[in-house]
Amino acid sequence: MNKLSLSKEKIKVVLLEGVHPLAEESFRKDGYNNIHYLKDSPEPAALKELLADAHILGIRSRTLINEDILNACDKLMAIGTFCIGTNQIDLDRACNHGIPVFNAPFSNTRSVAELVLAEIIFLMRGIPQKNAAAHRGQWIKSANSSFEIRGKKLGIVGFGHIGSQLSVIAESLGMKVFFYDIENKLPMGNARNTASLNELLAKVDVLSLHVPSTTETKNMIGKVQMDLMKPGSLLINAARGDVVVIEDLIAQLDSGHIKGAALDVFPEEPSSNADPFISKLIEYDQVIITPHIGGSTQEAQVNIANEVTHKLLKYSNNGSTSSAVNFPQVSIPELQDGQSRIMHIHKNKPGVLEKINHIFSSLGMNIAALHLQTSGEIGYVIMDVNGEDIDDLKVQLKGVDGTVRVRILHGR
Ligand code: NAI
Repeated sequence: MNKLSLSKEKIKVVLLEGVHPLAEESFRKDGYNNIHYLKDSPEPAALKELLADAHILGIRSRTLINEDILNACDKLMAIGTFCIGTNQIDLDRACNHGIPVFNAPFSNTRSVAELVLAEIIFLMRGIPQKNAAAHRGQWIKSANSSFEIRGKKLGIVGFGHIGSQLSVIAESLGMKVFFYDIENKLPMGNARNTASLNELLAKVDVLSLHVPSTTETKNMIGKVQMDLMKPGSLLINAARGDVVVIEDLIAQLDSGHIKGAALDVFPEEPSSNADPFISKLIEYDQVIITPHIGGSTQEAQVNIANEVTHKLLKYSNNGSTSSAVNFPQVSIPELQDGQSRIMHIHKNKPGVLEKINHIFSSLGMNIAALHLQTSGEIGYVIMDVNGEDIDDLKVQLKGVDGTVRVRILHGR
């Protein structure tokens, strides 16, 4: 086990917003026991006080980390968001403070794919309407407009993590899968890609959207696109709220051209569970409305806890910044016994590396391995050296103009 220049017991880990208990458990198992676990997110003044001497911070989506907070966190070296998004953090400022941010972008892929699969089955059977009617005391016992999904054509727009996962499980239930992606994607199983979105629209019985929010995907599915779909088609959006033009969808539902839909995301979503959901869609029984919970399962929470904690530990114990969302990404091997690792974060400007090299040569020290990555305004260089006697080196490196932070790790 490597030793950190600051022992693990002294590294203060702050976990807020009741992140999954597995996170705390994993830190403790790894030897970190200075852990502050809070169920909520403190107000800014209390947050600053809590973070003044903290080294690692774990949050979910409610804790806003802006420049003001970052200025109060002298020792903070990494932030983990135990969720998918990172909008709650000023990522550029965090980077300039030498703080990588880690998240878990794909931990809930399976959860979304499973929900969509269930929705395909329910929409094909007309269950939403029958369920809504039954809740009103009506009994619609009929096979009209009720179909199996076997043999039906599913169109997937965006064949990334979720789209391709959905493809596999839908095909295993007998669906014929077609997809469209702007990137060249390897088809899974017997899925086939189409040359254009329009070709896909015209071909399928159910269309499911799995694209990110970009300028091209904004309003991607409106009247023109829905007109191209077969009469009686079904539409599912569990991607982003602005991908579908809601007014156009409503017109298509009114005409019956789109027979049913399932929406998990909306152009405007309530900001908390206490706020009402306001949409004309609530009048339509044939629309399954879910409150942006496509990825919200216990399994996804566990995956998130494992993934984010693993990334934070890897950075703290090893210096690796692989998959950091705002920081130069460096993936490095374990430190060798008898070596020391110096992690130097600096302003990405000419002359810094030259000065670092000069310090090494003036101390007669040889760099055994060097990893360097820059991104925007920040450079991250990691140097492994033989021996542990590097006190002078550390002092001198800290003095290099442009230095943001220096960390040291010792091999066994
Ligand atoms: P991903 O990045 O793995 O896949 C997205 C795919 O869309 C990529 O293959 C990309 O090439 C493709 N793409 C981008 N622009 C396109 C365009 N204009 N036309 C066709 N294809 C395009 O993303 P992932 O993880 O599969 O997520 C997909 C969507 O699902 C995202 O919008 C994400 O925000 C959303 N999501 C929703 C959740 C929920 O709770 N409802 C949970 C997780 C993700």
